[in-house]
Amino acid sequence: MSMATIHSTKNHHAQKIADELTHFLADTYLLYLKTQNFHWNVTGPNFHSLHEMFEEQYNELAEAVDLIAERIRALKAAAPASFSHFLKLSSLKEENGVPPTKDMLKQLTKDHETIVQIANNILTKSQKAQDEATTDLLIERIRAHEKTAWMLRSCIE
Ligand SMILES: [Fe+2]
Repeated sequence: MSMATIHSTKNHHAQKIADELTHFLADTYLLYLKTQNFHWNVTGPNFHSLHEMFEEQYNELAEAVDLIAERIRALKAAAPASFSHFLKLSSLKEENGVPPTKDMLKQLTKDHETIVQIANNILTKSQKAQDEATTDLLIERIRAHEKTAWMLRSCIE
């Protein structure tokens, strides 16, 4: 294989992974916004602790959003950055209302579990493409989402 062929194969992989990451960015952003919705709107006897737990979680997601977008840029693709674009790209469902507290916890748990599956799916591809930086980012995201899912699940069990 010539250097030019290796180079274009690498570019092709980078493009595909960047495209997968645009979906992952949208999912993370939607979950960030939903967590902030619940931080603002949660009520009830556990208000204070849930209000604070959701704040920690959306702050963590906000940092992740930035890292994912910057990884997309490093792969030479454009990072999507509008609500309409995110809605089109994400496979998570928005929450327009204010569900009961238990449903908030259930929804977030499910969304974090879904994102873990999505991240694992992209991870298989980034490992195959020997894209170590994306692989590293995804492993970190899987660890964080699994931990958050555990915390949320523990509030309802
Ligand atoms: Fe706040």
